[in-house]
Amino acid sequence: MNVPNHIGIIVDGNGRWAVKRGKSRSEGHLAGSKNLDTLCQYIFDKGVKVVSLYVFSTENFKRSDEEVNYLMDLFVKKFKEDFKKFSKKGIKIVFSGRRQPLKKEILDIIDDVTLQTKDNKNGILNFCLNYGSHAEIIDACKKMIEDKVAIDDVNEALFNKYLYNDLPNLDLLIRTGGELRLSNFMLYQAAYAELYFTNTLFPDFNKDEFDQALDSYNNRDRRFGGINYEKKNC
Ligand code: FPP
Repeated sequence: MNVPNHIGIIVDGNGRWAVKRGKSRSEGHLAGSKNLDTLCQYIFDKGVKVVSLYVFSTENFKRSDEEVNYLMDLFVKKFKEDFKKFSKKGIKIVFSGRRQPLKKEILDIIDDVTLQTKDNKNGILNFCLNYGSHAEIIDACKKMIEDKVAIDDVNEALFNKYLYNDLPNLDLLIRTGGELRLSNFMLYQAAYAELYFTNTLFPDFNKDEFDQALDSYNNRDRRFGGINYEKKNC
């Protein structure tokens, strides 16, 4: 079994999961957050080194104040309570996204968790929160200009350092919830990612469903633009 080094997940379908059950959308987010805990433990136990989760896009601020406030409170609560569990297992927690217009309460917990887990070496859990890929690329360019980077010094390794976090490229990108698009998630890092879309709504995306995604990944022929001469059809 070939285990991807970096997996990204677009955790979509929590609202629909709740509505289908006659519950509030918030209950769907809560169910999604519980599923994240179990799933991430499982994914790291499988040997995956980096997991990136799209938990709030810059565009998600267009939702009702009630939903946005619920999600922000949930993030604060979960980061306060649950990060210790990951930290104990040596997982470093990082955040990707713009700080504006996040409130001080969430920025403080983001800074605290980042600092407390910065020396952990067993894996990286990257929460993409108030994240958008276009914003990330533009912010990186602005910082490079601010730093007066010489044109001949610009290369992929340096550019990566200017992104929100210097992470390896995505190997596998999973989207739950049935939509067939990337919605501005890690577009630069997904250049050669294998894409896996499932209709399963995120709270139902359990270990078995994840194993199916892994099986699918293992059946892909990753050529990175080259040719696999060991394959008979080449
Ligand atoms: C996408 O839309 C999902 C979100 C905006 C939020 C996802 C957040 C969580 C699962 C909670 C994560 C918690 C922590 C602590 C990181 P949707 O699921 O609302 O989609 P839908 O309306 O299309 O069903």
